[in-house]
Amino acid sequence: MLERGLEPRDAARVYDRIGSKLAMGEPFEGRAKALAASWIEPQAGQRVLEVGVGTGAFLGQVSQLEGVRAVGLDVSAEMLRLTRARAPRALLVRGSATDPPLARASFDWLYVGYTLDLFPLARIVPALVELRELLAPEGRAVICSLSPGRSALERGLMSLWQGIHRVLGPAAVGGCRPLELGGLLEAAGFQVLRSEHVGQLGTPSSVVLAAPGSAP
Ligand SMILES: C[S@@+](CC[C@H](N)C(=O)[O-])C[C@H]1O[C@@H](n2cnc3c(N)ncnc32)[C@H](O)[C@@H]1O
Repeated sequence: MLERGLEPRDAARVYDRIGSKLAMGEPFEGRAKALAASWIEPQAGQRVLEVGVGTGAFLGQVSQLEGVRAVGLDVSAEMLRLTRARAPRALLVRGSATDPPLARASFDWLYVGYTLDLFPLARIVPALVELRELLAPEGRAVICSLSPGRSALERGLMSLWQGIHRVLGPAAVGGCRPLELGGLLEAAGFQVLRSEHVGQLGTPSSVVLAAPGSAP
């Protein structure tokens, strides 16, 4: 896994600039996101946290569910502004997953889509430990990210993608690169309950359902 990534301040700058153009990734990631969303089934009275809200597609849907409290955390003011338009009832917080300004054990569901894969490698497990602590003991996390390719097409595309990441720097590809998500989650004390590979137009993604487990 590539070590370089975007520190929170750099990510805020990059994503303030990307803004609504982020939706151009949908033909490559939409299926994995739809699968992730289908695993999240909040009941009335439950609280759902999304980290890395993007343009607000997920929070826009979840915040319409009766009795469900939707909360979004993001470093980018522009992404929070776009999300506000789609999810007017959600509570939106500006801050980083590496130091989330949210109460511990207060969420039933955590969703993180294509966000951990832009963090510097050394920050991913510590951030996941912080996020795990935000979940209630019976809570569940659903995480998706780019993943190592399985087919020749996926491997070729990811090798090209990582070449750009290496040569031009992480910001050139929005910071993202493939992760071995299962191992990172387990290193942070999560228990992986389910994991699926989703390929779309040569882009490989992992979608993982995990329980908070116990401290590593
Ligand atoms: C690639 S986008 C993914 C957005 C959305 N989840 C999706 O799948 O469309 C990454 C998002 O994470 C946010 N982000 C980047 N670094 C972050 C950090 N350290 N803490 C919280 N959010 C962060 C960015 O501003 C952006 O909204």
